[in-house]
Amino acid sequence: MTQPARGAVLQPDATGIAAAVEALIGGHLVVFPTETVYGLGANALDAHAVASVYQAKGRPSDNPLIVHCASEGGARELASEWNATAQSLARTFWPGPLTIVVPRRPGPTDAVAGKLDTIALRVPSHPVAQALLRAASVPVAAPSANTSGRPSPTRVKDARADLGNHVAVYLDGGDTDVGLESTVVQVEDGRVTLLRKGGVAQEALEAVVGPMAHAAPDGSGPVRSPGMKYRHYAPKARIVLATGPEARRLLAAPPTPKTGFLLARETAEGLDAGDARLVVAGTRKDGAAWAHSLFAALRDLDEACDTIVVEAIPEDGVGAAVMDRLRRAAQRL
Ligand code: TXA
Ligand code: MG
Repeated sequence: MTQPARGAVLQPDATGIAAAVEALIGGHLVVFPTETVYGLGANALDAHAVASVYQAKGRPSDNPLIVHCASEGGARELASEWNATAQSLARTFWPGPLTIVVPRRPGPTDAVAGKLDTIALRVPSHPVAQALLRAASVPVAAPSANTSGRPSPTRVKDARADLGNHVAVYLDGGDTDVGLESTVVQVEDGRVTLLRKGGVAQEALEAVVGPMAHAAPDGSGPVRSPGMKYRHYAPKARIVLATGPEARRLLAAPPTPKTGFLLARETAEGLDAGDARLVVAGTRKDGAAWAHSLFAALRDLDEACDTIVVEAIPEDGVGAAVMDRLRRAAQRL
């Protein structure tokens, strides 16, 4: 098969999937949609390909990658321990937006592990991710497909803007559904620690495994998630977190002429829907709607604004992950 031009954006039909598989097996990088955000994929068993992921993203080498598999069976082959707790998490939440960190078999996945003796595993539910993983028949290491310090991409154009021709093939699956990254938990013996809030709500996990320990938000402490110590989204614009009434006051008297607003539907009631500097994310209680539009809204507003006022929302369900990302963007952990 003739390979498409480097950096081509393809539809995820049989031809597109075949081109992506050929690129992966040839040691090249592929961007593909998952239900959370777009991933920058490499064959996890190919140390050279994995090294080029770090290079393309500008990612520190001590920050390990999540390995994506088509099924629980494929994932557990990479683990050295897969106990009843890991199994019940996998059976409840896979395929889906949960990443499970477990002890790993040394050897094949050394390149993705950033010197840790554990591995982060995920079985995504997105049909394109599933088709790609099944056709490739190798585990795929995939961080979010942004350059380090940018919001994770929820649209193929955002990934392409960041990574350009570092990537052989981009598969266009439209807007991603969840809109922010997977929840990351570590299973050690029978104990479960929440390392990163994400697409599966803490309440849903605790209904299965009981109360979880929490890693420090900066990734320090006995159980570490190296990624959490890095500043994530570093917007050009200043992010200001505000309550609804504060946001209304700032609308009347913006701190700068180029101030943008990301607001709940209730707060935005009666405002000009055609205003490019105003994005309405969903009702205050609809954390899932906020998650869905958050990163795209921040990328778009960051183009046009020097200050972005973002309304804080209640921290339950996926709203907790939304607020985690916003605090990191505002640099107030
Ligand atoms: O939704 C997602 O998880 C997306 C899609 C593409 O699957 N991927 C993603 O990957 O967000 P990334 O690399 O942007 O974030 C992975 C996080 C980082 O904070 C990293 O430090 C942590 O998972 N991580 C990876 N392996 C780990 C391990 N063995 N122990 C602790 N944390 C780990
Ligand atoms: Mg990321």
